[in-house]
Amino acid sequence: MTQLESFDKLVSLAKRRGFIFQSSEIYGGINACYDYGPLGVELKRNVKDIWWNAMTRDYDNIVGLDAAILMHPKVWEASGHIAGFTDPLVDCKKCKSRFREDTLPEENLTHRKCPKCEGALTEARNFNLMFKTEMGALEGAGTEVYLRPETAQGIFVNFLNVMDTSRQRIPFGIAQIGKAFRNEITPGNFTFRTREFEQMEMQYFVEPENSDEWFETWKQRRLEYYDRIGIKRENLRFEAHGPNELAHYAKAAFDIEFKFPIGWSELEGIHNRSDFDLKQHEAYSGKKMMAMDATTNKKFHPFIIETSAGCDRTVLAILSQAYEEQTLEDGSERTVMHFHPAVAPIKVAILPLMKKDGLKELAYEIYDDLKKILPAFFDEKGAIGRRYRRMDEAGTPFCVTIDHDTIEKGTVTIRDRDSMGQVTIPKEELKAWLLERIYV
Ligand code: GAP
Repeated sequence: MTQLESFDKLVSLAKRRGFIFQSSEIYGGINACYDYGPLGVELKRNVKDIWWNAMTRDYDNIVGLDAAILMHPKVWEASGHIAGFTDPLVDCKKCKSRFREDTLPEENLTHRKCPKCEGALTEARNFNLMFKTEMGALEGAGTEVYLRPETAQGIFVNFLNVMDTSRQRIPFGIAQIGKAFRNEITPGNFTFRTREFEQMEMQYFVEPENSDEWFETWKQRRLEYYDRIGIKRENLRFEAHGPNELAHYAKAAFDIEFKFPIGWSELEGIHNRSDFDLKQHEAYSGKKMMAMDATTNKKFHPFIIETSAGCDRTVLAILSQAYEEQTLEDGSERTVMHFHPAVAPIKVAILPLMKKDGLKELAYEIYDDLKKILPAFFDEKGAIGRRYRRMDEAGTPFCVTIDHDTIEKGTVTIRDRDSMGQVTIPKEELKAWLLERIYV
């Protein structure tokens, strides 16, 4: 039994099976950008759907939003991103490698020698991580816009719109899933740090005096989400940001970290952002960003509890945890992806034992019926053992074989991906049997 020690094997399985491809691969690829293939897109969609439901269906005071990626340039002045969303960058004068100064080992910092070739390093200069582009046909002053580096600002600037139109009162939340872009200096580790990625962010607006309590509540609620998508508690931990690590807006911050093959690393940030964002946007836009206290009728600036998860990182965590290489009792080997059924891209495969005797047609009928309610897959090609292996690599939790007993006795055999155990049930019960085990 082998668990992942690095991302290498995952990268090759992801490509081989159609989870994740390098972007623009036929042109040699583009650094730190990835495309999700047929299995990957289903997996990612499940992660997003379960997140969306956990936010907007579990609670009646969280509503959704889908804000534009391009925003008024003043947003980024108000948010502090133009002045402060920078990394200190150093270059090696000899080999021209580029590093983030804050990630260099102590000895390189003291001697200012390149960790790769021992050449001399330049002084650090601040590099803004936002991607810039021009809006409209006219180049020049006033047309510069940015690709958003976080989805959060779309929520803050719509605070009044959403509160008024959805008739929410404090406390309430706004949830959003969308792309964000950062011109990372040191992207890498597969999809862990990329330049284009997707965030799942929920901003919860609360009374200032209750913000510590809500912060704790959301820490717990977020763990429950990870339970639902099958991430084991033993692979998760909270890491508090020390006073020196706190972002400019944060009153308190915890990361949820996952035990990746590269070590414990951030999956999600939970922040008490205080009233920083609303006050900033009030100052820059001139619009009062306040809510009304229901009992006193006084206006106040709500505090914001933010839960900010990386969708791609969550998918990477799921892939990392799921991967296992096994040597079976008969000496054969299999690679199996132990996805929780709720996130598995394909839930069930329908496999006729043979093509003849009407088995194929009957299997297709069962598949055709199932695929209306579940992502199902039909595979008639190759020996049954090979077909099981293919489904193990795709992480399909259940394979249903259709054999002569299906014709004679009306039963189907279900094979479990993880235990490889089999059960036989009447074919009429198949739908209910599967639904009970798949959805959370
Ligand atoms: N609105 C707060 C915010 O954006 P963040 O900690 O900078 O906070 C939140 O980002 C999450 O977004 C991270 O925990 C991570 O999962 C994901 N993320 C950030 N930068 C990323 C990158 N370059 N590639 C992939 N995911 C990233």
